[in-house]
Amino acid sequence: MMQISIDGPSSPKIIQWLLDTRPLWPVPGHLKPKEEVAELRTVASRALALLSETEQASVLKYYHLKDAKMSLASHLLKHLVITKYCNVPWSKSTISRDANGKPCFIAEGASKPVTMDFNVSHQAGIVSLIASLGFDLRVDVGTDVVCANERQKHDYDHIEKQGFFDWIDMHGDVFAESELNHMKLSSVPLDLSGPDFSISGFAKDALGRCQWRNAKINLKITSADGKESTVQVDSNTVIDKKLRKFYAMWCLRESYVKMTGEALLAPWLKELEISDVQAPDAASYIQDSNSLVMGEVVRDFKILFKGRKVTNVKMELSALGPAYMVGGSVKIPKEIPDFAMASWQQLDLEDDILAVAERNR
Ligand SMILES: CC(C)(COP(=O)(O)OP(=O)(O)OC[C@H]1O[C@@H](n2cnc3c(N)ncnc32)[C@H](O)[C@@H]1OP(=O)(O)O)[C@@H](O)C(=O)NCCC(=O)NCCS
Repeated sequence: MMQISIDGPSSPKIIQWLLDTRPLWPVPGHLKPKEEVAELRTVASRALALLSETEQASVLKYYHLKDAKMSLASHLLKHLVITKYCNVPWSKSTISRDANGKPCFIAEGASKPVTMDFNVSHQAGIVSLIASLGFDLRVDVGTDVVCANERQKHDYDHIEKQGFFDWIDMHGDVFAESELNHMKLSSVPLDLSGPDFSISGFAKDALGRCQWRNAKINLKITSADGKESTVQVDSNTVIDKKLRKFYAMWCLRESYVKMTGEALLAPWLKELEISDVQAPDAASYIQDSNSLVMGEVVRDFKILFKGRKVTNVKMELSALGPAYMVGGSVKIPKEIPDFAMASWQQLDLEDDILAVAERNR
């Protein structure tokens, strides 16, 4: 039976949730991909039972288990945010799509979506959700999650054959020219010199020009007392940093275009420039490669749209574990004062989702 308003009305806020599907719904190891997905009917029966027939079919149509699991998690998170914050039981938390395909909630009998906006992203087993809650006006939100090493072999193969600049150019259609140049040529921070050393302009240029793996780069560094010396850097370290910067910039752009809802149909993709991007650093001393421990969060970006500074969009990019980054973008109407975005909260399938859904059917 329905219980309403689980979290009750509260002050306006942005919430950000994560669900890690990698350890969820394990299936026997000997199965073929299609059989693994079919096995979800058994191992994820409780979660699937919370979805409509159509939604269940949309989960079970995937070829790969990881995609089916992320789709299932995405459905659960969207229903959860509606049930928790729109005062409806789970059975009425129907997900609609706006004219651009962005998911939204239109309450029964209403003709337009509720004020709350939410957005979902999934990549390499992680599903993120951002939502704007309790505002009087609509506050558009977008999220994207990337995994910088998910396609590492593929990325390295291309870079070793054609160079990093060519690899960047493959994505030329969706980035602004200034961003393409930044990703190719800007220097990357290297942890080689410690606080008592600085890297000269020439050395920075050498790092900027680096586009091949498996090479050594000689860099001139200057110590605090003015002494110059040369250090050798492995170009693989430089390329890895440049790749991380690329994925950081991809993540920010995607979260921005998803916030607008226009997504890839946006005719202005090349006129959006997000500059001064440095990828957030992963937390140090991560022992477990599957860890999602929160690392650095970066917030200072310069956003230009058609050459003009954008001041009404707030963006954050957070490092998660060694290789994931998750972005959140929020468009702030001028009537609303600035506000902080809540940090990413990792949900527990049982306690935070299934139990809530079942209590509020
Ligand atoms: C569909 C798109 C919105 C996101 O696709 P994506 O990055 O492959 O996938 P993500 O996992 O980040 O996001 C998928 C979610 O976006 C949401 N979404 C779909 N259409 C959307 C739209 N018009 N606006 C905002 N969100 C949308 C959905 O919730 C979808 O998940 P669901 O189907 O489980 O509900 C679109 O931007 C796209 O196709 N991107 C391809 C990547 C690309 O070339 N990006 C260029 C850099 S800007």
